[in-house]
Amino acid sequence: MTTLIGNWNYPTLVRFGAGRIVELPDHCKSLGMKRPLLVTDAGLAALPMTARSVKLCLDAGLECEVFADVQPNPVEANVTAGVSAFRRGAHDGVIAFGGGSALDTAKAIALMVGQTRPIWDFEDREDWFTRVNVTGMAPVVAVPTTAGTGSEVGRASVITDLRDHTKKIIFHPKMMPSIVLEDPELTVGLPPHITAAVGMDALSHNLEAYCAPGYHPMAEGIAVEGMRLIKEWLPRAVTDGADVEARSHMLVASSMGATAFQKGLGAMHSLSHPCSANLNTHHGLTNAVVMPYVLEWNRAVLEEKMARLAAWMGLADRSFDGVLKWVLELRREIGIPHTLAGIGVKEEHAKPFAPQAFADPSTGGNPVSLTERDFEQLYLNSIRGDLKSA
Ligand SMILES: [Fe+2]
Repeated sequence: MTTLIGNWNYPTLVRFGAGRIVELPDHCKSLGMKRPLLVTDAGLAALPMTARSVKLCLDAGLECEVFADVQPNPVEANVTAGVSAFRRGAHDGVIAFGGGSALDTAKAIALMVGQTRPIWDFEDREDWFTRVNVTGMAPVVAVPTTAGTGSEVGRASVITDLRDHTKKIIFHPKMMPSIVLEDPELTVGLPPHITAAVGMDALSHNLEAYCAPGYHPMAEGIAVEGMRLIKEWLPRAVTDGADVEARSHMLVASSMGATAFQKGLGAMHSLSHPCSANLNTHHGLTNAVVMPYVLEWNRAVLEEKMARLAAWMGLADRSFDGVLKWVLELRREIGIPHTLAGIGVKEEHAKPFAPQAFADPSTGGNPVSLTERDFEQLYLNSIRGDLKSA
């Protein structure tokens, strides 16, 4: 196998390569940390690779402690508890270690240790980010252990607001971790169904960013190559979790997706967020289920773009239908259910979820504009397995 190793400064400092977790203490020290707080979830906290990462830090003279009170689809209480742990332990930096939930919570903790306002004051609206006291923010080294969210290279955290059961985006440009340490060996233990679900989240990021309107050739270039990598390597990563080459390409494709979606997301994420916020469905899995229904809905404006994408990915059918067929085959191959009903979303949810999807910040990035009625219809299509255009 080719050795896949690289040092990049885009979109932040990225250190990529199998086995490079051993560099973790050096990266913490380079940001001035002496007492890092490693933030992860309870499941990961129990794994040997987490204990090993902590030991690497301790052996290097860093007084590292673990905070693991992070739930899937994290809530404000997780962030508040993390801020308390940070202050109690007199920590001076954060190691964000895990999948999307752990990374998002860790980034939010690093933001909130320096603030006096409540977290919802920093929602991604207008210029609310200017309310942040930047000097109080803690430095972050991000270590992703799944290939999907791309949160390690993102400038925001998605936190569920239990007051109205919506996912809110907490944003500040400096929430982008200062250093990202990407070691694909940390992802080899992910079971096939999680590998598939998070891999499809990465695909949805690249795909929605590519489809979003607006002039951003750099983001589109990243997105199409991200999708080609996913086409080549996601089935292999699902079939053989120990394939480090497949894991490597998926980890990069995941970071590429989050880099590209600064251009925008779309209705896949709009539909997905209310399902997760209300029914706790898996984010990547939900995106994967709704993907073909959203593509079909947007078909009229995507014919030319999909033809270009199909050519780049080497599909035999270089058209919109070629891409749609590929998405459907990929979903089947890696065991994604075909309908939202298959993951517990019922027809009675379509009406109450539609306004939430409409209000989701991702909605503005969809290549055709959508009404609440459209979202209700899209839910019904996805629940019933009805693939049809708007
Ligand atoms: Fe996502």
